Amino acid sequence: MVGRKVGIVGAGFVGATAAYTLALVGSCHEIVLYDIVPEVAKGKAIDIGQATSYSSKGTIVTAAHSPSEMKNCDIVVITAGVPRRKEMTRADLLMINAKIITDVVDNIKKYSPNAVILCVSNPLDVMTYVVHKLTGWQRHRIIGMAGALDGARMAYQIQKKVGYGSGQTRAIVIGDHGQHMIPYPEISAVGGVPLNQIIGKTDMEDIIEKTKEGGAEIVKYLKTSAYYAPGRSISIMVEAILDDSRIVMPSSVLLNGEYGYKDVTLGVPVVLGAKGVEKIIELELDEEMKKRVDISVNSIRENIDILKKEGFFD
Ligand code: NAI
Ligand code: 2OP
Repeated sequence: MVGRKVGIVGAGFVGATAAYTLALVGSCHEIVLYDIVPEVAKGKAIDIGQATSYSSKGTIVTAAHSPSEMKNCDIVVITAGVPRRKEMTRADLLMINAKIITDVVDNIKKYSPNAVILCVSNPLDVMTYVVHKLTGWQRHRIIGMAGALDGARMAYQIQKKVGYGSGQTRAIVIGDHGQHMIPYPEISAVGGVPLNQIIGKTDMEDIIEKTKEGGAEIVKYLKTSAYYAPGRSISIMVEAILDDSRIVMPSSVLLNGEYGYKDVTLGVPVVLGAKGVEKIIELELDEEMKKRVDISVNSIRENIDILKKEGFFD
């Protein structure tokens, strides 16, 4: 990829942390932050830009005052959204965030028509689906970030349990980024050693439970959702696309017959490279796993159906 310009829409906790991580590593030439509150994008762009003085590779970090200033990005990361407040129903939240995504996508289509879009806003799989429907782009250009984070959370729990394997643990989580996510110990490993050879059943159940509760645990302490691990998860995916490094990473992608589903987004292992999704890997699932994937798909479809009923796609 010739250009290495990354736009980040939403300069809140996650967007800014992703920008900071990218700037520390020096993964791109230019990062542009945009937020509906321009002062937030401006202040954070200055702060992150000043941090790059001590990075080995320079990165230009700027704020866009209006969406039109975020032009010709190679990748646009969407982290704009609002959290659910007490008075909101699930349908309210879905509609509010889907409308935000609508504005964001309109601008991406206008100003960065060749970009790969990395969607991060929640509910992740549904918002990624919304991006697909609103762009109408080829599906390899739209990717939802969740498996990278959920896998990192599972790896963390594995390391805590066994006491070794830091940086060597590869854990796979597929399915939705929600209560039906599917941590997949059978294809996870510490330094290549299969988990079932080093972790017993009870401990494994505990790891799975804690992985699924990983997001909620942080909310409990911080009263806001996580941002360091999400920021790093975004940057690892951005780097893979910019470098065309073809890493395998579970990501939320639009299925078109894979795993027996169509017209729904789901977290499955994919190969990430310059095109975005270079390949969707179809795992052979046993009957039990197929049932769990089905539950996960249905939970995503329920939310897509709420948007359909509300007339969002009309
Ligand atoms: P935040 O509230 O700190 O940041 C969101 C930012 O979006 C705010 O600065 C807000 O002003 C901005 N914004 C709202 N509407 C906008 C618009 N139309 N255009 C531009 N900017 C707009 O929230 P945080 O913690 O950064 O989370 C961002 C999103 O990422 C949330 O939806 C959150 O649930 C999600 N998330 C997803 C994860 C994943 O694994 N996929 C992990 C962590 C968070
Ligand atoms: C997380 O898993 C809220 O999706 C966000 O931390």
